[in-house]
Amino acid sequence: MKYLILMLLGFNLSYLFAQEVRFSSDIAPIIYTKCSYCHQKNGAAPFALTNYAEIAQNVMTILYAVSHDFMPPWKANDGHKYLNYRGISDEELTKIKTWVKEGYKNDKTSWVYKPEKHKSFDENEKPDLILKMNEAYTLRTDGTEDFVSFIFHPKINSPKLIRKIMIKPGNKKAVHHARLELDEIGIFDKIANGKDFFYTHTILDSMVTTTSKIAFYVPGLNYLKFPKNTGILLNPNTTLALHLHYAPMYSEAKDQSEIWFYFDKQNDSTRKITCEAKTMMDNKVKIPPNLITQLTYNCTRFEDSVTILAVEPHMHLIGKSFSAWLIYPNQTDSLELITIPQWDFNWQEFYFFKKAVIAPKGSFIRLNALYDNTSNNPKNPFYPPQEVNFGAMNTTNEMLGLLVQFLIYQKGDEKIDFSQKY
Ligand code: HEC
Repeated sequence: MKYLILMLLGFNLSYLFAQEVRFSSDIAPIIYTKCSYCHQKNGAAPFALTNYAEIAQNVMTILYAVSHDFMPPWKANDGHKYLNYRGISDEELTKIKTWVKEGYKNDKTSWVYKPEKHKSFDENEKPDLILKMNEAYTLRTDGTEDFVSFIFHPKINSPKLIRKIMIKPGNKKAVHHARLELDEIGIFDKIANGKDFFYTHTILDSMVTTTSKIAFYVPGLNYLKFPKNTGILLNPNTTLALHLHYAPMYSEAKDQSEIWFYFDKQNDSTRKITCEAKTMMDNKVKIPPNLITQLTYNCTRFEDSVTILAVEPHMHLIGKSFSAWLIYPNQTDSLELITIPQWDFNWQEFYFFKKAVIAPKGSFIRLNALYDNTSNNPKNPFYPPQEVNFGAMNTTNEMLGLLVQFLIYQKGDEKIDFSQKY
């Protein structure tokens, strides 16, 4: 009997090793689902990976990028905890390595990427509301980045529940990243002072906790879709601000971006998502030059039990690493919410949990961050390094915060599995 098992095992193993990695059945499906939605004509990435020729032409940089965790872009540890994880698995990595080593042969030349087969967001679905910049904004051409916020007043008569949002950059080459914020107390209108845009470095830090940031755009990722029966409330008198970070431009360019909204039909079971910024607001803190500084901050406690859907870490340019922990009311138990080992200011997004995280009443979030204010940090905006102020929106100041999207807890929420399709 033992002998038979060994024989079977041996047979299976040799069968496994003899299996060839094929382009059509092994490689193309990985590239087309994990890479091509960014790497396509007019996509976010600088070159296309939509057929064999394009893949073969870039094969060595692809191998390098996937082996060094550089592509697909993903910043958080422990990716499998999040719905929006877009990394590749160890098995997929092994397949790519083997295929390249064996001479990256093609067994089916007709394979091409078909974008419509890999869409997770149906752009043909008619939005309920489109907000578009009044006129095209002319970008600076002096090769410096530009931060501009555009103001919108949605013309709606009654409160709406947003179930999907899409930020559509007018000029994909120019829009580096974007953030959408709701303001119900008129701070943005005050700053804009009658105009429909303002430069972001004039924003006051008071707004940080009184507005809610609800959506992001980073290259290749332009929409947010909330779980079934949940949404963000949009009241008629709300002001929306779309904060745009424009890449450095050297020749004339314009941008006229849009925001598309999809509303839910509200009923008794729909639940409102709250977006709250848990932010360290201490203007007396200074980050000294030529040092790496660690900051730990205990955010305010949750006054009700809440069900956390998503978190979004926030720091500015000299941020080096970030982590956030949920500390339970007994103060000894904790749960890691997110760790970003290599902070990247240009890649900020919401991280959606697969399984709802329950934060009981009285629990709080602890933030840990490192700031590298030395000249070894290529992202340091000052040379030589200078003392950096804390708590203001200007990107050359620093911040420490976590945006949290949550629902008021209901019995049974611990069983919610958001990864189930709906
Ligand atoms: C969410 C969008 C996105 C996805 C998904 C993505 N890429 Fe990229 N990729 C980019 C962008 C943007 C760049 C340009 C470099 C940058 O800005 O970081 C890039 C650059 C690259 C580069 C060039 C790196 C260099 O050193 O210049 C390679 C190779 C690459 N990607 C391969 C891949 C592969 C292979 C996959 C899938 C396994 C993938 N990418 C998935 C957006 C993406």
